[in-house]
Amino acid sequence: KKFEYLKVGRCGEENKVAFIELYRPKALNALCNGLMLELNETFDWIDNDNTIGCAVITGSEKAFAAGADIKEMQPKHFSEVYRDNFLEHWNRITRLRKPIIAAVNGFALGGGCELAMMCDMIYAGEKAQFGQPEIIIGTIPGSGGTQRLPRLVGKSKAMEMVLTGDRIGAEEACKFGLVSKVVAPEKLVDEAIKTADRICQHSPLIVKMAKEAVNASFEMTLAEGVHFEKRMFHQTFATSDRREGMTAFVEKRKPNFSNE
Ligand code: HXC
Repeated sequence: KKFEYLKVGRCGEENKVAFIELYRPKALNALCNGLMLELNETFDWIDNDNTIGCAVITGSEKAFAAGADIKEMQPKHFSEVYRDNFLEHWNRITRLRKPIIAAVNGFALGGGCELAMMCDMIYAGEKAQFGQPEIIIGTIPGSGGTQRLPRLVGKSKAMEMVLTGDRIGAEEACKFGLVSKVVAPEKLVDEAIKTADRICQHSPLIVKMAKEAVNASFEMTLAEGVHFEKRMFHQTFATSDRREGMTAFVEKRKPNFSNE
C-alpha cells in the first residue's frame, strides 16, 4: 500500500519482518496526525498478518522523529485537546502484540523519543540524539516521556532530560539503559533486522507470551508479576510449540514451530 508519510515493506531472511520507515523528510519526520494514522493502520496489518513475526521501525539518518508536529499543535486550546482527547491514538503501538524494534539514527526528540520508548527495544546509530525538549516550548511530554523515561534511565537522568530539555547521545543513552545496542549509522537497520530475524525463528505464539510477560513487569508488583509469569509459563504447556521445542532439543534437531 502507498502511504504519504511512511515507506512500508517486508524484509528479513524469510520475509517475516515488517519494515516501517518514517518518511516526512521536509519536517525531520515530525509526527503529524496523518503520519500517526498511517502508522496505526500499519500496526493493524502487522498484528493481523500471521506471516509477520516481528517489526522494525526507523527514520532517516538525520532524524528518527523530531517530535509531535509543533505547527499542528501551536493553535490548539485546552478545550479542544481535552474534548477530542488529543494524541490518545498515539498509544496504539503499545497494544501491538508482536515485537517491534526501533532503529534510531539522528534525532529522537519529544514524541519521537516517546515513540521509540513505546517500542520493545531501541538500537541506536552512533550519532543518535535522544531528548524530551517539550519544556523549551512551554509544555511537558505527553505520550509517556515522564513515565517511561524514569523507568528506563532512573529518576535523576530522566529529571535532567525533562527539566532541561537537553539531549543525550547514543553512548550515554546506552549507558543508562535507554538503548541496548549502539552501531555505526549505516549498519543500524541491518542490525535491527538481524535481531528481528532471530526472533522470527522462534514460535510466534510463544514470542507473544514472552512479550506480554515482560510488559506485565512494568504494571505489577513483583509478587503479582512472578505469579502472572508462572501462569503464562504453565500456559506454554498447553501449546504444540512448547512440545515441539523441547522434543526437538531432546531429538537433537531444529524445531519446526506451527504457531499453535
Ligand atoms: C514541526 C518540525 C519539527 C517539529 C522540525 N521541524 N521539528 N516541524 N514539528 N517537531 C521542521 C522545521 O520547522 C523545519 O521546517 C524542518 O523541520 C527542519 O528543521 P530545522 O529546525 O531547520 O533543522 P535543524 O536546524 O537541523 O534542527 C533540528 C532540530 C530542530 C534540533 C531537531 O528542528 C528542533 O528543535 N525541532 C523541534 C524539536 C522538539 O521540540 N520536539 C518536541 C516537540 S513537542 P521549515 O519548513 O520550518 O524550515 C512534542 C510533544 C509530544 O513532541 C507530546 C506527546 C506526543
